Amino acid sequence: KRPPASILFIFGGSGDLNYRKLTPALYNLFLDDWMPEQFAIAGIGRSPYTDEAYRQHLLDGVTKFSRRKGKLNGHWTDFSQHVNYLQMDGDDAEAYSLITDLVKAKEAEWGVHPNVVFYLAVAPQLVPSIASKLGGLNICSDTSSTRIVVEKPFGHDLKSAHELNALLTGMFAEEQIFRIDHYLGKETVQNILALRFANALFEPVWNRNYIDHIQITAAESVGLEGRGGYFEHAGALRDMVQNHILQILCMVAMEAPVSFDANEIRNKKVDVLNAIRRISHEQVHDFAVRGQYSSGWKKGEKVVGYREETGVSPQSNIDTFAAAKFYIDNWRWQGVPFYVRTGKYLNQKATHITLQFKPAPHYAFPNESAESWRSNRLTISIQPNMDISIRFQAKRPGQTMTLDPVDMKFNYEEAEGEHAPEAYETLLLDVMEGDATLFMRADQVEAAWKVIMPILETWENRKPQDFPNYAPDSWGPDGSDALLARDGHTWINYI
Ligand code: BG6
Repeated sequence: KRPPASILFIFGGSGDLNYRKLTPALYNLFLDDWMPEQFAIAGIGRSPYTDEAYRQHLLDGVTKFSRRKGKLNGHWTDFSQHVNYLQMDGDDAEAYSLITDLVKAKEAEWGVHPNVVFYLAVAPQLVPSIASKLGGLNICSDTSSTRIVVEKPFGHDLKSAHELNALLTGMFAEEQIFRIDHYLGKETVQNILALRFANALFEPVWNRNYIDHIQITAAESVGLEGRGGYFEHAGALRDMVQNHILQILCMVAMEAPVSFDANEIRNKKVDVLNAIRRISHEQVHDFAVRGQYSSGWKKGEKVVGYREETGVSPQSNIDTFAAAKFYIDNWRWQGVPFYVRTGKYLNQKATHITLQFKPAPHYAFPNESAESWRSNRLTISIQPNMDISIRFQAKRPGQTMTLDPVDMKFNYEEAEGEHAPEAYETLLLDVMEGDATLFMRADQVEAAWKVIMPILETWENRKPQDFPNYAPDSWGPDGSDALLARDGHTWINYI
């Protein structure tokens, strides 16, 4: 069923997120017949564009970034008739009448009161000013049909996130606020819930009795991609761990939901965040590792070090790599370490979660190395591979009892091909439908900030002695390996 008649206002309409992600996603929804029968999209920005030039610019983005590259099927013209450009300055309160006028015009044209979605695809510092002007519009008092979508990073730290929540909830009802974390829209991330809670097979072993430790890797092979100005005020911990990685951790660690009600799922996730053991400032050194890349070679190409990047200070202490160890203090996970890591310019683009099982209670097989128990693990690959694999020991054919690790694999792409929607498609559809299950509630965002604040504060106050400390194309600084080695483990790099 298609969502009801909707108007989407995209602040940051001429920006990168809209160009690469939002418009390609909306166009894919259109091609798949998921867009409402009646819809309008208004890109808002300060740059001058005619509607025609704006549509041409977006088509360029779709051609480059849509999952359907090269298969536009000639429907672009139909789609683009729904797209217009509103040149306005988000700081100019008067200009917001353009928005109200457009809503009224569409209401008259369609004969129904449309859903109105405000998507704030803008730099974080612009969010408060735009949100407060939107909050003053009459249409925003309609809590059932007007929504505001706020991109990450949601705040800069716990205090600013709290203030932003206070500002938003002062003007909008919680059900109108959609705090987006695009990882939650990824098919493979959503599938974690299906794997865990639609099967009786896994849940009985999904706990401290059988699991030795869990690893979550979100490695990126790209560098800054021209976002030095943003990254220099963020760092890897803020950019990836506070949101994407902790959200994945919640999906892996949460208790079974009783229903798929948005608040039920979010309650179960926030329970996990609240149960993560707080690291004291003194312990940060033992629980977290930061890195920054040097100049070097990336797949045969020379690349500059982080401190030489545009928009970055030559003395920058910002982390382009972060790893941490968390414990979850509840019955299910007591004593099970969760190791997480992320970084720019790493050896591979690879996001995966591995559950390492404990050794078998008694190992009667001859001639096996003491390490063979490590073969027993379950890996969920989020991207670029989309699969779930179980590694176990099997007998090598022959006259001796020799064991080899083997993999049993389910591959999503083989099963679904290009039909799997991209994260932003799923999430934009959910916004139009008003389903907040995959979005973050105020308390979730703040709980995630609480988890990382001691690390952030310690890193900000104590300057790193060894930056830059990893080479492009590597797996990060030595300290990252040492973090696991201290517990007798190693990172799983290749799946
Ligand atoms: C974004 C970060 O949220 O996620 C980027 O700001 C990062 O720095 C990106 O590159 C990674 O997303 P994906 O979907 O490519 O893994």
